[in-house]
Amino acid sequence: MNNFISRRLKNLVLITIASVALWGCGSGEKTVNLTAAQEQQVAERIAPAGHVSMAGQVSSAASGAASARAGSDIYATNCIACHSSGVAGAPVFGDVAAWSARLEQGLETVYTNAINGIRGMPMRGTCMDCSDEEVKAAVDHILDNSK
Ligand code: HEC
Repeated sequence: MNNFISRRLKNLVLITIASVALWGCGSGEKTVNLTAAQEQQVAERIAPAGHVSMAGQVSSAASGAASARAGSDIYATNCIACHSSGVAGAPVFGDVAAWSARLEQGLETVYTNAINGIRGMPMRGTCMDCSDEEVKAAVDHILDNSK
């Protein structure tokens, strides 16, 4: 009888030790299972606030302006090949006289000729994925450095 109780006690102690050991392993990593609705809430809370539009502001994401590249980058990638040395009679970057002569026809015409091309000047200066604004920014970059 005594023997039986001590065996039961021993088993109980072993089970308790095993349970504590298992509990210890499990408590190391805290995994939380969220419902879809909870995940949505968390996503909304941690979402960047950039999508908020103030009155009168145009969302840059909608207009595509967010991706507009700098004029200096467009120039360095697409225009420099001809405009740094004057290939085919291209007015040279930094040549104040050449660019002021071009500007006599008006800035808008200079922009339009850069966008549509004229004589040896290819359409958009070969930057076919450039928006009008990006071509104009590249023209501005040239003009800013040629006056
Ligand atoms: C393949 C050579 C070439 C490339 C590349 C090129 N241009 Fe030109 N560009 C020319 C030539 C040649 C002219 C002179 C055309 C003429 O008036 O006969 C010119 C003229 C211009 C003019 C003056 C237009 C006017 O109304 O007088 C502007 C502005 C201009 N380029 C901007 C750019 C920009 C911006 C880029 C890059 C996005 C670019 N070009 C790339 C060759 C090039």
